[in-house]
Amino acid sequence: MAPFDDQFYQPPDKFFPTHSGVGLTYDDVTLATLYSEVIPRDANLDTQLHERLQLRLPIISADMDTVTESPMAIAMARAGGLGLIHCNMPERQQLSEVSRVKNNVHGLIQEPIKIGPDQLIGEVLAMISDRRFGFSTFPVVDEKNTLLGLLPGHVVRERYATRKVAEAMMPRAQVHTIHERELGREPIKAADSFFTARMGIHKLLVVGDGDVLRGLFTLSDIEHILHEHGSHFKPARDEKFRLLCGASIIGLRKADGTLDRERIIGHAGALVERGCDVIAVSTAHGHSAGVGDTVKLIREAFPELPIIAGNVTSGAGVEYLAKCGVNVIKVGQGPGSICTTRVVAGVGIPQLTALYVASRAAEKCGVTVIADGGVVKSGDIVKALTLAQAVICGGLLAGCPEAPGQIMEINGKLYKQYRGMGSAAAMTAGSAARYGHSTKDSTRKVAAEGVEALKEVSPPVELVLAQLSGGVQSGLGYLGSRDLPTLRKAARFIRVTAAGQRESAPHDVIEVKSTK
Ligand code: XMP
Repeated sequence: MAPFDDQFYQPPDKFFPTHSGVGLTYDDVTLATLYSEVIPRDANLDTQLHERLQLRLPIISADMDTVTESPMAIAMARAGGLGLIHCNMPERQQLSEVSRVKNNVHGLIQEPIKIGPDQLIGEVLAMISDRRFGFSTFPVVDEKNTLLGLLPGHVVRERYATRKVAEAMMPRAQVHTIHERELGREPIKAADSFFTARMGIHKLLVVGDGDVLRGLFTLSDIEHILHEHGSHFKPARDEKFRLLCGASIIGLRKADGTLDRERIIGHAGALVERGCDVIAVSTAHGHSAGVGDTVKLIREAFPELPIIAGNVTSGAGVEYLAKCGVNVIKVGQGPGSICTTRVVAGVGIPQLTALYVASRAAEKCGVTVIADGGVVKSGDIVKALTLAQAVICGGLLAGCPEAPGQIMEINGKLYKQYRGMGSAAAMTAGSAARYGHSTKDSTRKVAAEGVEALKEVSPPVELVLAQLSGGVQSGLGYLGSRDLPTLRKAARFIRVTAAGQRESAPHDVIEVKSTK
């Protein structure tokens, strides 16, 4: 950069101290372009949050009950990111959600609809109609899930309504199966070769030892997946080739107000046993004894486990959590789209200033930071990544089909529910799940710090992330940065006025197609 440029476009260590005393967020600044030889699609978005936690895409889905359960976590990890499974549900349920992610095989329907040999064809027909299934072929299993046969669609007819499944099914010996071991590292390829070799077969059942049914591939799914193989995402996997998965935990307390050591360690241990790659201790106020003590308990019991905790917005908060044993620190108090912390408590720091302050302390402590909340466009992610190693998104993903919750129609438009974890409804659901509907949750806050909202239904996660990552790669291209560490060194900031902000978005035109 020419010396004259330097006066205007400043690196973070000059820019933020010059603006000390004012809280800046994403739209308050813009990044200056730099000489580039980087073609955006070649920009590498790998990020290292911890030596045992490497992502191929620096985007994490929020541990919120309207954002991340297993379908979201699977989609995130398949795209190279990470999903944090929320803990606003009974512990056992959270553990199965983690297992679903860790056992996920792309294209494999892990819990196919099964029927029993003693059911009547008429009952099967009623189930198809009640649950609006678009298929009529079903694996037949006993009560131990052992495969007994396959009920083919051509016998599922009204005229056979009074006949038993056992009479009509194709017996086990004639059913095409593959042992889960034979799927290897490329299950789609294995299933594809199977279907090519057996003309006319549309279903392949996967069995484990003892002939227990493990899942089902369908020809149409495999063809669909092969057709979409243009996807440029590389999945985030562990050393056993399983998708990465994170889960959140809360510092449960006993009736006397002290931390429930046994339950916290038991919960963390069960998650680790299921293959959970990282545990998050997520709260609104991470620079607190409750969070620090919870982290210390987990750190002591699991010295190697990557731990995420937060949220903080100060260097002191980062140092405190790092000392307690946290590896990855969540930064953000009040920037979230559903947050009301700043309104209710009068507390919180605009996100970019918070990120700058936290990132400098993190560097000294040898920990990494994640920008949590307030990300509404890919440009925000580029700005966040000049200071942080990854971002957490809630609202941007809550409208995707992979987010929990039903689609609702209001005045012809489709929406999904999205609520703050500090909203009254989420707090009630959380304490009900954790305490069996007891109202004696001593950790529950009196005043809600989040709202219950709706998000317009959006496309599947893969498409949303393709747009976001494409935008982030463009940002790297403009800054001549091949990868994220280079971006962090290259970034040059300048403050934007209200007029500059207006100029930054489409203006003085009638938009016929939104860029959202
Ligand atoms: P976005 O902007 O992505 O923010 O929708 C998601 C993040 O918001 C935080 N969060 C809350 N903050 N009250 C708050 O003040 C709440 O009820 C609440 N719920 C979630 C959280 O950090 C999340 O990742």
